[in-house]
Amino acid sequence: MEHIEQLKALGLFDARVPRYTSYPTAAVFTPRVDGAFQDRALGALDPRDPVSVYVHIPFCERLCWFCACHTQGTQTLGPVESYLESIEAELALLKERLPEGVRMGRLHWGGGTPTILPPPLIHRLAAAIRAVFPPTETCEFSVEIDPTMVDRAKITALAAEGMNRASIGIQDFNDEVQQAIGRLQPFDVTRACVEDLRAAGVASLNTDLVYGLPHQTEARIADTVEKVLTFAPDRVALFGYAHVPWASKRQKLIDEAALPGDLARYRLAELAAGMFGAAGLDRIGIDHFARPGDDLAQAAASGTLRRNFQGYTVDSCATLIGIGASSISRYPEGYVQNATATAAYKQRIAAGTLAGARGYALAEEDKLRARAIECLMCDFGLDLAVLEAEMGPQARSLAPELAKMAEAFAPFVTFDGTQVRIAPKGQALTRLIAATLDQHVPDGVRYSRAS
Ligand SMILES: C[S@@+](CC[C@H](N)C(=O)[O-])C[C@H]1O[C@@H](n2cnc3c(N)ncnc32)[C@H](O)[C@@H]1O
Ligand code: SF4
Repeated sequence: MEHIEQLKALGLFDARVPRYTSYPTAAVFTPRVDGAFQDRALGALDPRDPVSVYVHIPFCERLCWFCACHTQGTQTLGPVESYLESIEAELALLKERLPEGVRMGRLHWGGGTPTILPPPLIHRLAAAIRAVFPPTETCEFSVEIDPTMVDRAKITALAAEGMNRASIGIQDFNDEVQQAIGRLQPFDVTRACVEDLRAAGVASLNTDLVYGLPHQTEARIADTVEKVLTFAPDRVALFGYAHVPWASKRQKLIDEAALPGDLARYRLAELAAGMFGAAGLDRIGIDHFARPGDDLAQAAASGTLRRNFQGYTVDSCATLIGIGASSISRYPEGYVQNATATAAYKQRIAAGTLAGARGYALAEEDKLRARAIECLMCDFGLDLAVLEAEMGPQARSLAPELAKMAEAFAPFVTFDGTQVRIAPKGQALTRLIAATLDQHVPDGVRYSRAS
């Protein structure tokens, strides 16, 4: 209890801080950095370096109340097909600007629900991407899958296109919790999806769970974890429920009175984490677990884990090209986000311009802080000597701030002049600790809770 009191005193239950899937965060992007910036960044790519590609499919047949992702509901395929035409047009615009010979080292389809696409559209999208971004021999292809919105034919089509990683949404298996978040998903349907994925040869399976949901109890989350473990997942994401009804209007349907309190929420996370640890999974960063042989676990063990817009990754490509509405691209020079609303995105593409609507040009100081924050989020520490070797002598300029950080978060953070370490018992504070290096905390932006 004393430990929890210490975490509480340091602000764990009160703080609202970014998740740092980028630094600076998207909240500070500006319309001054747009398609023209992207034009230059694309032209400057070195064809010897493979790029990562992210494609966003912002459609779902059901709209779960808890979900904060950028997506819209549709009961027909009409809007999806029309969107696919815009994606093809965006790919053509990118092709005009890419230097000859750029190849794709990693492809991710996210959403929304990419598995809303029937097999013919899966093949059409995959072919369109390949035509612009020829894959490297070792290209990874991962897809976010809603088990209630997929069947064997879709899985076969995705596997035929090279999908070797799948991420399935689960959240919680309890009926009352599922009703309270507007997402019904029987265990049997999920298990059938897992079996189909394994039968199709998908080697790596991730499952998404969420703690802090309405009506979730320790017994219920324990039951969910036990059920998930029967799938022998290679990776598990255990996200804290981000209740942000001001940004995600459908969350107004969530009964706030049924949400677990601070301490209960913390205990749910610790219980689930303990069970994954006992089952032999390694803890990765603030919210992931992985089988020790999995490359995420290997990256965490060797200090090569990275963090990008999709969360923890082994992807070290300097460039990530985001395609589709709301997608964010990361170039060595900065970030560009496509127009968020699907209609606005389609309009820009129809006008023959890239869809970048806002972004951020990174200064040298930002690049240094971005890397330092990434180290804290991935490794629960950082080494100024390593940072100096990677980023240059200006890395040492962070030393006074790191000393203050250690003082502010004692006894959980230590700094010996070169190395920062966050002790295991203080790792729940990592986002708060990272936030002390953030020079771009915008006024009036409301983030989700730190715990
Ligand atoms: C694009 S969604 C899931 C993909 C697929 N549409 C599905 O429903 O299975 C990605 C993940 O984000 C997480 N997520 C969405 N909204 C969240 C929220 N408000 N708080 C925490 N995690 C959230 C969920 O775990 C979800 O599975
Ligand atoms: S959780 Fe998945 S299916 Fe549900 S609204 Fe979000 S993206 Fe759509």
